[in-house]
Amino acid sequence: LAAATAAASTAGVGVAAARSRKPSDALVFDKDAYTVLTTTVATDDGDKAVTYHFYKAITYVTNPVDAKYQCLNVSVPVEIDGTAVDATRAPILFANSVGGYMPSSVADATGVGGSPMTPPGGGGGGGGGGSGGGQAAMVSNAKLAVAAGYVVVEPGARGRTLVDADGTYYGTAPTAIVDLKAAVRYVRFNEGRIPGNTDRIVSSGTSAGGALSALLGASGDSPLYEADLRELGAAPAGDAIFAGGAWCPIADLEHADMAYEWNWGGNKLSSGDTVDQTISKELRSAFAEYQAALKLRGKHGFGPLTARTYDDYLVTTYLEPAATTYLKSLPAADRSGYLAKNPWLTWSGDRAAFAWSDFLTHVGARKKNTPAFDPFDLSAPENNLFGTGATKARHFTLYSLRHATGNDSARLDGDLPRKLDLMNPMFFIGQRNPGRAKHWWIRVGTKDTDTSLTVVGNLAAGLENLGDDVNALMYWDAGHGANEDAADFMTWIGRVTG
Ligand code: DHB
Repeated sequence: LAAATAAASTAGVGVAAARSRKPSDALVFDKDAYTVLTTTVATDDGDKAVTYHFYKAITYVTNPVDAKYQCLNVSVPVEIDGTAVDATRAPILFANSVGGYMPSSVADATGVGGSPMTPPGGGGGGGGGGSGGGQAAMVSNAKLAVAAGYVVVEPGARGRTLVDADGTYYGTAPTAIVDLKAAVRYVRFNEGRIPGNTDRIVSSGTSAGGALSALLGASGDSPLYEADLRELGAAPAGDAIFAGGAWCPIADLEHADMAYEWNWGGNKLSSGDTVDQTISKELRSAFAEYQAALKLRGKHGFGPLTARTYDDYLVTTYLEPAATTYLKSLPAADRSGYLAKNPWLTWSGDRAAFAWSDFLTHVGARKKNTPAFDPFDLSAPENNLFGTGATKARHFTLYSLRHATGNDSARLDGDLPRKLDLMNPMFFIGQRNPGRAKHWWIRVGTKDTDTSLTVVGNLAAGLENLGDDVNALMYWDAGHGANEDAADFMTWIGRVTG
């Protein structure tokens, strides 16, 4: 190899020949390696018949740890309802299917969005379907995107439960985000070969996948992942993306226990049990300190976002507008019915209004006990996410570590502070990371008690305070995983990338 390179440059044959021997050669996208598939996508404008080129299970690093996960699929629409489309310069939807911080593979997917066919109203589930989808069956963002003429890249990524024959966990933090970045680098490296505009990558994901999508956007081109990416043999290219989409992101994990008690601390479990009030109140007061330290300001001139003002902020900025949108969308008789059942909500001048305490009662049972993310028995997915080596699960907050060990001077394991940063979009927002995405689509259901509503509130406010273009709203009465305005997301992609 060295001799060939030397000979090529000595002979002045140009660097192309020499380059063709680099390891990243394995990462050159083969534009001819597709199969032709068809699918029918149920859109707001009716069914669309889409013919697309499907590129399957492309390993996106030269030195994969587990190629079952470190591979991606590409779908390129070529004909929509009988009309040829050219997606050569189309935006690219980078749709991860991570759920629960679990491993996510697209290797066995049989088409875009996990399945070659879209039974009307029956999408999701298979292959890369992941945790998205919420309570109602719905067409995935990936399928809607090909029907909108966009290129769709669906990356797999390692996840927290992967363990090798020696008992070593090899998918714990930060591997999922490192993998997603490696996949972005693959796409950007293949600019001009891979269809689509590699400067217009829009990421999407739900829940854990939403947090990773937000993190991918916030941490763009950060040098902090460089060593990990190099070790995998990631393509020599940047990993900044143009826009970030996040549905119910389970983010800001090391502060999520506090935030959860601030939000849902007074709500009972579905069993009817009340959570430990001492712990709940300690965490709640820790939230006040954390929130103050963020120094965020609410949008529309709201002023400082603190533990004292946040209830008012959520009600006026997110919750009442969500209820208003919902109630306006209902036929008059249904609206009257809803209002009769929910007398705590007033409807006047086509606007919903209510008190925070009534909203909390309306939501009802909290999904998680306290502490919600770093429980003393290490039973949460997040304990496993921060496992390492042969250790399946660890504490990642001082509060739970000290409580669980009874040692008030216990310290987090030395590798954890850095890993927590590398997993947290709020860290990169706090750093004002210049390589971050500048366009954002952020959504959560108002009945989603998987995490605190302040997680979305802070993510959006943090980005807004940096001057980014943020489209954030909540879906009224919707639970975990909801995506109720996917068609609007498609329109938004077209607008911001245009
Ligand atoms: C997911 C949900 C959770 O409640 C959580 O703690 C982590 C991940 C999920 O659905 O991806």
